[in-house]
Amino acid sequence: MKFNRLSDLIAQHQLQGKRVFIRADLNVPQDAAGNITEDTRVRASVPAIRQALDAGAAVMVTSHLGRPTEGEFKPEDSLAPIAKRLAELLGQPVELRQNWTDGVEVTPGQVVLLENCRVNKGEKKNSDELAQKIAKLCDIYVNDAFGTAHRAEATTHGIAKFAPIACAGPLLAAELDALGKALNQPARPLVAIVAGSKVSSKLTILKALADKVDNLIVGGGIANTFLLASGLKIGKSLAEPDLVEEAKAIIEMMAKRGASVPIPVDVVCAKEFSPTATAQIKDVADVADDDLILDIGPKTAAILAAQIGQAGTVVWNGPVGVFEFDQFGEGTKTLALAIANSKAFSIAGGGDTLAAIAKYEITDKIGYISTGGGAFLEFLEGKTLPAVEILLQRAA
Ligand code: 3PG
Repeated sequence: MKFNRLSDLIAQHQLQGKRVFIRADLNVPQDAAGNITEDTRVRASVPAIRQALDAGAAVMVTSHLGRPTEGEFKPEDSLAPIAKRLAELLGQPVELRQNWTDGVEVTPGQVVLLENCRVNKGEKKNSDELAQKIAKLCDIYVNDAFGTAHRAEATTHGIAKFAPIACAGPLLAAELDALGKALNQPARPLVAIVAGSKVSSKLTILKALADKVDNLIVGGGIANTFLLASGLKIGKSLAEPDLVEEAKAIIEMMAKRGASVPIPVDVVCAKEFSPTATAQIKDVADVADDDLILDIGPKTAAILAAQIGQAGTVVWNGPVGVFEFDQFGEGTKTLALAIANSKAFSIAGGGDTLAAIAKYEITDKIGYISTGGGAFLEFLEGKTLPAVEILLQRAA
């Protein structure tokens, strides 16, 4: 993918004294009192800001937070907690500016945070009028918001059409490089783990990956639908019977090219979905009518771990069991450790996956952890992300 990169502009000394507008994704979870509960995205936004400041730029940063109503700013929409955290991380003041679309005073070496961009009228509809106005605020537009790259909004797409220069920041570039490496030129075998409660929410991803990967490991409710497609009983487990034909088509499509969807040989069941439920390991043929399948069994986990051990590349989205309850977490833990110990280039993304990575303490053993939720999934679906598309066009 050929797009302009902030690092290239810096190498060409293009930032000195310039006004740089960075669109970051600082949409972080907060508790009821507004405290940031997980700050990965704030930390991930620091390199672009630091690099621009060090290169002599006057830096404006904005992001959305949540999904506010345009034109109706409420205190809970404010980026104030993020300004505070950013200042700590940068070791310099970060002033928060309100009503900024008509003009922003900022000097080289200074960084200001522009209040929640989704409160501006026209942001979500990607209004040209708003985009042109904010493009006038800067000499250089930097998109570093991979997490929002699947949205065509005024600060992710429109501004990139009108800013004098538009480029990708280091986070966006690293995400695209890592995802491109995993999916476009993968070291083989390429193993994907796609798990989650519903086939329907990940059907396009499953289909897109079925065409590319050597092993498609399915987990959670998705695996149950694949068990049904293989003629197995799943008791009262979560599944989508109306998607069994789609699951069969994926299995057949992969078999035709010598690839596979490994079907569990054993599972962990319970009679109820609860943190105190008793776990029972069963061969997959022995699942009873009143059983709920809540994890893959140890034999299955060992087979899949061996496949991961042989892999050249692993793409991971979704835990394979209810790992929040320890008695149903062994499958996810085994696969997580297999990924951590494998020589494969691994890439992981999605909220639950990140929680599993944190729980099993393998963060520094994953090749690349994506900051994207929806954007990561849309990339896996093979979709072109609009915010990336416009940067490609500007570089053409
Ligand atoms: C996310 O959290 O996935 C991104 O920040 C995008 O947020 P959105 O779904 O509200 O556009």
